[in-house]
Amino acid sequence: MSATRFSESVTGSLSDGVLVVTIDNPPVNAVSAHVRQGLVKALDHAAALSMVVGVVITGAGRTFVGGADIKEFGKPPVEPTLPAVIERIEGYGKPVVAAVNGAALGGGCEIALACHGRIASDKASLGMPEVKLGIVPGAGGTQRLPRLIGTVAAIDLIGSGRTAKATEALSLGLVDGVAKDHLDAALSLVHDLAGEPLRRTGMLEVSTAEPAAVEAAAKKVLSKARGQVAPTEAVRLVKAAADIGLKHGLADERATFLRLRDSAESAALRHVFFAERSAGKVDKLDKVTPRKIETVGIVGTGLMGVGIAVAALTSGYRVIGIEQTAEAAEKGRERIAGILDKSVLSGRLAATVRDECLTRLEVTASAGELAAADLVIEAVFDDLTVKTELFQRLDSIIRQDTILATNTSYLNPDEIAAATTHPERVVGLHFFSPANIMRLVEVVDCKATAPDVLASALAFARRLGKLPVVCGVTEGFIGNRIFSAYRREAEFMVEDGAAPHEIDAALEAYGFPMGIFAVYDMAGLEIAWARRKRQAATRDPQARYVEIADRLCEAGRFGRKSGRGWYDYSSGDRAVDPEVTALVEAARVAKNITPRNYTSDEIIARLLKAMADEGAGLLAEGIAARSSDIDLVMINGYGFPAHKGGPMFAAATHEDARP
Ligand code: 3HC
Repeated sequence: MSATRFSESVTGSLSDGVLVVTIDNPPVNAVSAHVRQGLVKALDHAAALSMVVGVVITGAGRTFVGGADIKEFGKPPVEPTLPAVIERIEGYGKPVVAAVNGAALGGGCEIALACHGRIASDKASLGMPEVKLGIVPGAGGTQRLPRLIGTVAAIDLIGSGRTAKATEALSLGLVDGVAKDHLDAALSLVHDLAGEPLRRTGMLEVSTAEPAAVEAAAKKVLSKARGQVAPTEAVRLVKAAADIGLKHGLADERATFLRLRDSAESAALRHVFFAERSAGKVDKLDKVTPRKIETVGIVGTGLMGVGIAVAALTSGYRVIGIEQTAEAAEKGRERIAGILDKSVLSGRLAATVRDECLTRLEVTASAGELAAADLVIEAVFDDLTVKTELFQRLDSIIRQDTILATNTSYLNPDEIAAATTHPERVVGLHFFSPANIMRLVEVVDCKATAPDVLASALAFARRLGKLPVVCGVTEGFIGNRIFSAYRREAEFMVEDGAAPHEIDAALEAYGFPMGIFAVYDMAGLEIAWARRKRQAATRDPQARYVEIADRLCEAGRFGRKSGRGWYDYSSGDRAVDPEVTALVEAARVAKNITPRNYTSDEIIARLLKAMADEGAGLLAEGIAARSSDIDLVMINGYGFPAHKGGPMFAAATHEDARP
């Protein structure tokens, strides 16, 4: 076998008369300029050698090709473009087969689509996640995929941006075969195709689809788009593939790709993409090795505890749940099994996996079992005495090297840690409910937390498939502090003249799934009321305080479950309630406030500024390490629209929010 280097990232070796071209551009084999140049040189080389019967394209490492190089976006274009490389592959005189060794995403999937055959390894996955970056595929994906797998399946894949594993790709017709030795199978396919008329994807007809099925697929995708442009455009382009020729379809796709690539929506989503990759990176942990965690103890099997238990079980951990009585333990076990059953019913979990998870679960009333745990997470009532007493008790049960995590939302974990004999092993793991679904985990680096304990907590959260964001100790951590500032400002605005439903409408038009007052009503108003009453004695008398929520509670309006809150729900839907309007007006009169009108844009600008100011405080205090972490917390924990980039990003780019 002889090896030739075509560029810094592309090499070729001859194997049985086939040029095997390997893309090696770590970390994800993105199609950077030198990859594109190398591929063209490799094709030139193979074309010139009569002894070469065809070409196999594959990737080095775990990825086939992770897509276009996102870091090149916004920089001057470098020839050849990806569409030009892809056109060359599709029109090539000798067979070109993709040996898809791992993820083939975006431009990587488009390269595979242009080949004359595709063999996937069992570890391969294929998809076009461009809409998640606020763009559409820009190198033929919207035009070639429907030609290969039909319009309905193409709308689903491209419109949602989801990835198909090898077996699904095979059943969709996206690949021609799945093989353990994908290279060998690809070489055989080249020989089979040599001398035969080549199946060029772009030349295929789009098979006729049921209009109702097309519309249903489009509706499904767009119902989740929350006002984003890219999914709508992606669906339009895929549908158009059936009606306009390849040339026009490709031109429309490229123009749309370039337009969206320069849009604010794409800039925001790219910011989120890179923010997610930096989250949880902590300089001081560079050389720190996390402890091994295999068995997780969870104290308390309420809503939060069972959610954490399910997440841990489905990620392969052994779980020991602790309850106060045998009866409560049995109920906890049933709740955990119930969630797993539901996942099986909805098709998210195989029945065999559920059964296997249950073999790793024990729920008991004997806390002594926790001696086997490597990590113990408390998910008990959020009360300082309850938690400190529990941790003191655990001190004498668990091993020396066991990590203790508190799931408190509002208490000071430093105080909880200080009550234990080994505060260095205490860390905060603030999950969001339901913990088996929500991706966000605030990992609280307490005053005494040892570096390897923090590293272990991060590794644990990552193995759960969560998005961990590191945070210092402060009341409410990152999320609840920003949320409090947001809530405060929304209430100030109500006093100043904006109706609650106007604020909610502005937020929903901006992309929040629900406005803040509707969220209040959904969550119930009484817990926050009780907290406000507790804090009343220590509240700064000079600080502005809006009493409207207290008045609502005094009137028995506790939100949705009581049928009335900020809105009226007696008809089943949320409706503006004149009683609330009168209450708000009375509050303004009592404070001599002359109400003014707010536009939606002003509402958003004021709320963004409040969140960004609080965020700046968190950064200055060293509670958050980077402003993009704050964005991720608000996107993943509080419904902030990802396509606006998070409050810090959005405030910096929103005209009216600038100071
Ligand atoms: N371009 C540039 N850098 C990329 C990249 C890309 N397409 N994809 C990933 N990276 C970088 C990440 O920023 C990260 O960098 P860091 O180490 O400096 O933080 C590094 O590669 C590793 O990334 P992950 O941590 O995500 O690695 P994983 O192994 O967990 O996942 C992956 C690998 C599944 C390929 C994942 O990185 C991924 O989903 N990447 C994005 C895929 C994508 O969106 N492709 C479409 C691009 S747009 C396109 O192709 C347009 C075309 O139609 C013209």
